[in-house]
Amino acid sequence: MGFQIAIDGPAASGKSTVARLLAEKLGFDHLNTGATYRAVAVYLHEKGLSPSSAEEEIENALKNLKIDYVNGRVYINGKDYTEKIQSPEAGVLASNFARLEVVRRHLVRIQREICDDKNIVVEGRDIGTVVLPNAHLKIFLTASLEARVERKLKEYQKRGLKVTKEEVERELISRDEQDSKRNVAPLKPAEDAVIIDTTSMSVEEVLDRILKLVRERMNT
Ligand code: DC
Repeated sequence: MGFQIAIDGPAASGKSTVARLLAEKLGFDHLNTGATYRAVAVYLHEKGLSPSSAEEEIENALKNLKIDYVNGRVYINGKDYTEKIQSPEAGVLASNFARLEVVRRHLVRIQREICDDKNIVVEGRDIGTVVLPNAHLKIFLTASLEARVERKLKEYQKRGLKVTKEEVERELISRDEQDSKRNVAPLKPAEDAVIIDTTSMSVEEVLDRILKLVRERMNT
């Protein structure tokens, strides 16, 4: 079995940057499970489905899709969804569809297949609690709402998206509330997760802290 690192936390807590750099430093694979929820949600939306559609219809649509996750890019049935899924709307769609057990069951199976036997850093909301309960190291990243809004706003601006600070704040509050209050696999730290508040930490500091934990776990 490979060495698996689970990184969970709310939206814009720094997961993606930290997970990507950590994987690079360690020479591990990296799986951003949020990207898989986003891509599937956008695909289902394009098919005219919504989270209140009949479960059978959603299940049929899921059966007909093939997800490929290659070098951080997400493809559905061969079509590249990577750029399309970065918008605030895609984030909200993902959070809405992620409440459904039928969607989670399908994606958790695919995520476990991707992780199987690999040295891998996996980020999401339920990695330490559901997807990889036996991960060698579980990290839960948090940060103040203000810090997260600033980070997300910068990310959107860098991508050339026009959004106001108020819109970003509303998006994060509503997604976090929905993600932590849903019945299936809600966002919460695993009992054995190390919680890191990144509000006033630099990316380098967070990375150093996690690398130290990785070394400790690898030697035990
Ligand atoms: O990590 P992200 O912000 O790109 O994720 C988008 C949404 O997908 C998030 O609001 C909730 C859902 N998600 C989830 O329910 N479980 C995961 N493991 C990852 C994401």
